[in-house]
Amino acid sequence: MEFSFRNSKNLQIGYLLVNWFVKNRRILPWRTNSSIYNRLVSEFMLQQTQVATVIPYFKRWTEQFPSIEILATASENQVLKAWEGLGYYSRAKNLHKTAKEIINQQIDLTYPSHFIFPKTPEEWKQLPGIGDYTAHALAAIAQNQCVAAIDGNVIRVLCRIYAIQQAFKNKTQAVKYIKNIANFFIPPDESANYNEAIMELGALICKSQNPLCEHCPINLHCRSFQEKLDHSQFPKFKKIIYIKRNIQRIFIFDEQFIILKKTSTNRLRNIFELPLLSDISEKMPVREIAKINRSIAHEHITEIIFEPEHLPEKFKNLLNNNSGLMLFPICEVKNITLSGPHRKWLNGRLVAYL
Ligand code: ADE
Repeated sequence: MEFSFRNSKNLQIGYLLVNWFVKNRRILPWRTNSSIYNRLVSEFMLQQTQVATVIPYFKRWTEQFPSIEILATASENQVLKAWEGLGYYSRAKNLHKTAKEIINQQIDLTYPSHFIFPKTPEEWKQLPGIGDYTAHALAAIAQNQCVAAIDGNVIRVLCRIYAIQQAFKNKTQAVKYIKNIANFFIPPDESANYNEAIMELGALICKSQNPLCEHCPINLHCRSFQEKLDHSQFPKFKKIIYIKRNIQRIFIFDEQFIILKKTSTNRLRNIFELPLLSDISEKMPVREIAKINRSIAHEHITEIIFEPEHLPEKFKNLLNNNSGLMLFPICEVKNITLSGPHRKWLNGRLVAYL
C-alpha cells in the first residue's frame, strides 16, 4: 500500500497520542523516576516479560542496585540472584556487562559520576544484550531521540491504522516492514512520550482481543475502524506449525538432599535445573509425578517429571563424574539460582515431594 510521509496530518496523530498518553498512562516505577539507568534496567527486564511481572523485580533491583556504579561493582552471583525467576538469564549477565562497559568508558575522571550514556540506537547497539528494539527504545525513551521503537504493540497498532494486508512470516519480517512507516507520527520534540504512547495504546486500547476502539484517541485516523474491518485480522501472520517435544526429568530427593544439575550451556552458566532422566539412567524404575506443559517460540514442550521407585543405590556415586550433577541440602536450595520454570515447580507443584 501507499504510505504518506511525515506530513502535518501525521504529526497531528502523533500529538493526539502524546496528549492521550500524558492523561492515561499507567503509573510504572520506571516512569515515576525516569532516569537513563532506570530505563536501561526496565528495558532489559521487559524484553520477553510482561509489565506486571517486571514491576516487583524492578523495585527490588533498584533498591539493591540503585545506580549504574553499584550495579557495575556487584558480583555475577548477586546479579543472578536478584534476577532469579525472571528467566532468560543472559539478560542479567548482559545488563551487568553493559553497566561495566558504560562505567569503564567514563572519560572525565574529575567528575566521577559523569558517565557518558549512549544516545543514538547505533551507539546503544554496541553494548552487550542491546539489540535493535532495545537500542531504539533507549534512544527514544531515555534520550528523546527522534527514532521509533517497534515492539509487538506498535506493529499491531500500525497494521490496524493502515489496514496492512501483507501476511508476515514472523515478527522480524513484520518489524522490517513497519520500520518504513514507524517514524511518520513522531513529534520531533516529544519522541520519548510518543514512543511510550503508541506502546501504551497497544497495551490498553488497541489490544489484540477486544480492542476499545470507541475510546481510542486516533480512531478517526484508523482505517480498520473507519472501514469497519475485523480488527482481529491485523497484523496478519502466516500460520506457524508448532513442534511437539517431550522432556523427561528426574526428581531425586532423599531426606535432606536433592540432586540438581548445573546447566551446561554457556547461556545458563551457574544456573541449576532438575536433571534429565537420561542424566541418571533411563532403565531405573520410576513413577510419574507431574506433567507440565509450556511453550517456547515454535515448540510445545511437555516436561514429564518422574521420581525413582527406589532411591538409586549409589545415590552419591552419581555425583562422581563430569555429569554436572550436584547434591544440595534442601535448606540451601533457596540460595542457589534455579532457572525460572524449575524454581516455580520446586516452590509449587513439586513442593509436596520434598
Ligand atoms: N515495554 C517496553 N518498554 C515499555 C515501557 N516503557 N512501558 C511499557 N511497556 C514497555
